[in-house]
Amino acid sequence: MLEAARQIVDAAERITCFSGAGLSAPSGVGTFRDPVGGWWTKHDPMRLASPQGFAEDPDLVMDWYAARRSQIGSADPNPAHRILAAREDIVQVTQNTDDLLLRAGCDSVIQVHGDIAADRCHGECGHIERIDLTDPPGRRPCPCGRAELRPDVVWFGEALDPDVWQQAEAACSNCDVLLVVGTDASVYPAAGLITLARHHGARIVVVNMNPSQASGIADVELIGSAAELLPALLA
Ligand code: APR
Repeated sequence: MLEAARQIVDAAERITCFSGAGLSAPSGVGTFRDPVGGWWTKHDPMRLASPQGFAEDPDLVMDWYAARRSQIGSADPNPAHRILAAREDIVQVTQNTDDLLLRAGCDSVIQVHGDIAADRCHGECGHIERIDLTDPPGRRPCPCGRAELRPDVVWFGEALDPDVWQQAEAACSNCDVLLVVGTDASVYPAAGLITLARHHGARIVVVNMNPSQASGIADVELIGSAAELLPALLA
């Protein structure tokens, strides 16, 4: 299967990589739906990653993001991040909000679910500020005085940034091969990018630790860790 995937990738002129939490798992960053260790196996996503949850208990939400930010801040890019950064020809579209692809050296990453390394005004005044992942801030008001600051990520029930989404659709509509790496492919609209790529004639190569919602649409599926399989596939 690796040889079949390698032939597809080597023949491609335009490659897009669509990634999820499994790409960063080898760096020690928690995934969401893994049966062991996945965040959503222990916590209710609607309490921690939704506007309702933030309204009900902003301390709980900001404490949870502080824990995730510290985990990311103390993590290092893994070999999967590094080989993707070395392949400057591959366009990066990710569901991940961490900065590990950027720290690995990627010039540009299309982050459809936002950026955990920044806070923005919950009142949408437009204020955004970078935060230090190694020393994450707690609750504080936006300088506009009308609302609190919250992570610059897309919560369940919130709209994706239309400009970012347009970039992601373009990247997945115009590729010969879509690498689908480390995602359960169960959250929409992001997961729809896979069928969009397929609809535009792309070959789908999945790299995932387990079968996923993308298994049925894959031309080739490599089961294993991205930290091992991506260097073997792309080096
Ligand atoms: N290498 C490759 N795949 C891995 C690895 C690894 N080392 N470790 C775990 N995986 C796979 C798991 O088998 C799983 O299929 O990564 C996938 C992670 O799935 P999820 O935890 O559901 O994460 P993701 O698909 O990114 O979630 C999508 O859901 O909660 C929201 O906004 C959040 O962006 C996230 C979205």
